[in-house]
Amino acid sequence: MTISPDQLLCSLRWRYAIKQFDPSRMIPGNIWDALEESLVLTPSSFGLQPWKFIVVADPSLRMKLLSESWKQPQVTEASHYVVLTARTDLTSDDIEAWIERLSEVQGTDIGTLGPLKGMIEGFAQAMSQEERRAWNVRQVYIALGQLMASAAALGIDACPMEGISASGYDHVLGLAGGSHTTVVACALGYRAVSDKYAQAPKARFERSQVIKHV
Ligand SMILES: Cc1cc2nc3c(=O)[nH]c(=O)nc-3n(C[C@H](O)[C@H](O)[C@H](O)COP(=O)(O)O)c2cc1C
Repeated sequence: MTISPDQLLCSLRWRYAIKQFDPSRMIPGNIWDALEESLVLTPSSFGLQPWKFIVVADPSLRMKLLSESWKQPQVTEASHYVVLTARTDLTSDDIEAWIERLSEVQGTDIGTLGPLKGMIEGFAQAMSQEERRAWNVRQVYIALGQLMASAAALGIDACPMEGISASGYDHVLGLAGGSHTTVVACALGYRAVSDKYAQAPKARFERSQVIKHV
């Protein structure tokens, strides 16, 4: 099943980073399920999925996160709020867990996946822990992009949120010093009619400035 090029561009032009959500409108359960699934389906390097996505529903936690987000109102006013976290490292156990899952889902004998496992381990071990962490963080941004594009396709508004204190979020969410760390967040819901940013023309560089054909 496909959508037309016009439908795709229409959703991507319709979306913008919402500054003011309508706090009275909630995303229906079936649509939210699809958006969570879009996170699950995000591709990652070697398929390793070095992330966890924390859907913060608890209003008291949302209030605490607000203080760690330059008081940006999207944190408490959006219907849903997701904190995207990255694994802080990538160990043999992580790779083992992925190979086991791959074997289980695809019905492949685990022995035949040995070379793949060895290759991933070689790749990961050639990096420092900081490089592995940075690699994981890059994967998380793919999930953010997929979530925002999926939301736009479903007529759901979103605001990616990098204006947050990652260490503050880690503290509030009990992640500090653990296996995962906050990278970025995303507020999702419905724009408030009073959000004047909806009227602003979409500002991008000319296509010829950002796309080069060779
Ligand atoms: C990774 C990322 C982080 C962002 N963080 C914030 C944020 O903390 N608060 C905010 O209001 N907008 C944030 N934005 C929105 C951008 O400013 C916005 O996407 C950009 O200006 C383009 O405008 P548009 O998304 O409305 O087309 C962020 C965008 C991205 C991609």
